[in-house]
Amino acid sequence: MRDLREWVARLKAEGELVEVTAEVDPHLEITEIADRGMKGGAPALLFRTVRGSRMPVLINQFGSERRMAMGLGTESLDALAGRIEELIELQPPQGLVQKVKALGKLRELASFMPGTAKSGPCQEVVLPEPDLDLVPILTCWPEDGGPFVTLPLVFSRDPRTGVRNCGMYRIQKVDRKTCMMHWQIHKDGAAHLRDSQGRVPVAVAIGTDPALTYSATAPLPPHVDEMMFAGFLRGRKVEMVPCRTQPVEVPASAEIVLEGYVDATDLRPEGPFGDHTGFYTPVDDYPTFHLTGMTMRRDAIYSTTVVGMPPMEDLWLGKATERLFLPLLRMTLPDLVDMNLPLEGVFHNCAIVSVKKRYPGHAKKLINAVWGMGLLSLTRCVVVVDHDVDVRDVSAVAFRAFSNVDVGRDMLVTEGPVDALDHAAPYFAYGSKVGFDATRKWPGEGVVRPWPEEIRMSDEVRARVDARWAELGIPFPR
Ligand SMILES: Cc1cc2nc3c(=O)[nH]c(=O)nc-3n(C[C@H](O)[C@H](O)[C@H](O)COP(=O)(O)O)c2cc1C
Repeated sequence: MRDLREWVARLKAEGELVEVTAEVDPHLEITEIADRGMKGGAPALLFRTVRGSRMPVLINQFGSERRMAMGLGTESLDALAGRIEELIELQPPQGLVQKVKALGKLRELASFMPGTAKSGPCQEVVLPEPDLDLVPILTCWPEDGGPFVTLPLVFSRDPRTGVRNCGMYRIQKVDRKTCMMHWQIHKDGAAHLRDSQGRVPVAVAIGTDPALTYSATAPLPPHVDEMMFAGFLRGRKVEMVPCRTQPVEVPASAEIVLEGYVDATDLRPEGPFGDHTGFYTPVDDYPTFHLTGMTMRRDAIYSTTVVGMPPMEDLWLGKATERLFLPLLRMTLPDLVDMNLPLEGVFHNCAIVSVKKRYPGHAKKLINAVWGMGLLSLTRCVVVVDHDVDVRDVSAVAFRAFSNVDVGRDMLVTEGPVDALDHAAPYFAYGSKVGFDATRKWPGEGVVRPWPEEIRMSDEVRARVDARWAELGIPFPR
């Protein structure tokens, strides 16, 4: 898909979009409608008539596994993860045929590097002055500190290396041309500000095709360009255009572009904000984002989301990361079999992982590895189960965690960085974390008694009962 419009057309063609023409209010009312939709399995919603603005509002575009996969142009997230696995498993080619194949792959990769055009549709309308009042920015929850742009792609460059970063960070509107930038302490945008002389040129793109929007949320290392990753995901390079008032580029096909700078010397209170944790994040000081320019497509669509008590739309963005980054995690942790970030853990509070144990203490090694791995290091609770337990079956995981753990032996407690949104931690972004080794224990792992077998019927008897089920006339699934 090239842009948001093609994506909207695709959603419509697939019966995955409802257009609402009745007037709705961006102040709280859209949240209540969308929240019901997100929790009730509704399609994407395109509100055509929004009070106080001429722009339509698109919400819940990613709100199911099917739509998330559709957006990334794949039949399933695991199939896409397979493509990533293939790429990173590229071995030094042996014969001529393999060499030609490997060359083809490298050429394909090179073709995903973003291109640059002089101008693009996102600059069809150039406003003489930035004016955020034109955009129907949602006030999401009753105690929110104001309206927030919730699905923005924020572009800046590392002031030392010039490498581009694109991240999704919410933006609170203060007035027509002033905002607050919610760059959390562990994120790349915040690092740019720390390393700058006080001002970082920034551009914000709102309303792009789904591969780009997703890529802004992906926890890529700082030296990997999210726009190259987006090009790889969608199978076509991303075309960028230079902004008019700042030395930053944005995707040419974005619906709305905000240009400006973030000022480290101008910190102001940001929030409160009804966050994806299910709680309000309290007011804290964040840097100001001063707009210097604003451009749009003709008839721009405003693309947004609402976060809050899970499950909501962002669950599926997180699930995409869980699936797509598993092959990358396995590069350094080859014994990691599977991973589930359950919705109740809101991404940073809980990771369930499974391991094919090969030596005593293997599960504990994995717990420590999670705590040393990128943004996963912020995980407050890690549960490790054996490889034959389905990590997505939370009941099966709980059964092992409740029955296989001797707290004195199988629980690890550590202290370190936790998520900036972790309200239970005693300090901001610093607290304790727990890991449970819920695997079967081996001799050499502190068990002096034989470990019991889990109860299972023999295959022979199961097959016999399968074959006789109809004859028994018992009206239950077999
Ligand atoms: C809907 C949504 C809103 C988000 N809002 C923020 C935010 O306000 N601040 C933040 O630091 N991260 C936020 N994130 C998470 C970041 O986008 C994510 O951690 C991303 O990897 C950051 O990119 P970076 O590693 O390049 O900094 C949000 C994610 C989603 C899906």
